[in-house]
Amino acid sequence: MLTGGGDCPGLNAVIRAIVRKGERHYGDELVGFLDAWDGVRERRTIPLTVETMRGMLPRGGTVLGTRRGSPFDTDDGVAMVKRSMRDLGLDGLIVIGGNGSLSVACRLVNEHGLPIVGVPKTIDNDVVGTDVTFGFNTAVQIATDAIDRLHTTAESHDRVMVVEVMGRHTGWIATTAGIAGGATVVLIPEIPFDIDELCERLTRRHDRGRYASIVVVAEGAEPVAGSLEMEQKVFDRFGHVVLGGVATRIAMAIADRTGFETRVVQLGHVQRGGTPTAYDRVLSTRFGVAAIDMVHEQAWGKMAVLRGNEIVSEDLNVAVGKTRGVDMDLYEGVAKHFFA
Ligand code: F6P
Repeated sequence: MLTGGGDCPGLNAVIRAIVRKGERHYGDELVGFLDAWDGVRERRTIPLTVETMRGMLPRGGTVLGTRRGSPFDTDDGVAMVKRSMRDLGLDGLIVIGGNGSLSVACRLVNEHGLPIVGVPKTIDNDVVGTDVTFGFNTAVQIATDAIDRLHTTAESHDRVMVVEVMGRHTGWIATTAGIAGGATVVLIPEIPFDIDELCERLTRRHDRGRYASIVVVAEGAEPVAGSLEMEQKVFDRFGHVVLGGVATRIAMAIADRTGFETRVVQLGHVQRGGTPTAYDRVLSTRFGVAAIDMVHEQAWGKMAVLRGNEIVSEDLNVAVGKTRGVDMDLYEGVAKHFFA
């Protein structure tokens, strides 16, 4: 197995569950590739056993290490993956990853016939095909705890707090933590925000004698075109926009336009670190158990997903090249009723 993309609470719980059921129930011998596809190409593995996975259930991060990038990035990448799998005598590979890693897995199955199953992960909760990804619940809890704390300091100082949470393409964390934390306004990538409208809302709230406000913004939120000058975009070596900082821009605009004292809190990677919630431990464990069953069913090209209360298998194809936006019934139908 391998873990790819950004880390997320619950990865170790998935690995532990695969190992536990694989070794104890099926008599499997399991190995983990280190550092995602780099480890597959370079044949860097560690043995994974029930013994070595002891104590890993509550542990954040991933014992396997993780990286972005794909075997399709280099001319010989896929050939090296094939060679590693053949030389190690692997019956199957479990890829635990987000949209990027699952898309790579899908291509390797469809174009190269490799025996791969997937497990969807990301705190952003934006994988198409599953109702929830593990890690999301933990990130929401961390963001909610932060918002709870910010209320009291905002109230003491009569300040506007602009809290930036993760959410590259989608407002799942912002919306859910915004509802849970009683945010004044939530800004999400799915709907460009209007800075004038935001300032009017805050001003109306002030006029009603409510001098403290919490604005929750997803890192990927963007202003209505031309309405607010933003920083030049910076890209990493994989072509992803490096996000983080939209809250600062918004806070400056609020302070300029309203004169209200405004502060910024960028939660960043705190949301991805540390121990998973009980919900995520259970979901991760269920995904891991399902994934090793799928390997024994030779359900190549499938991933374990949550549908309602059931774990079922779904084609990896459905996740490729798409992101699952926030449920608009949750944003428009619930969160918005509590905006200022
Ligand atoms: O994909 C999950 C995610 O946490 C996004 O919300 C965020 O934009 C990105 O990863 C950050 O990636 P990195 O760890 O490479 O900065």
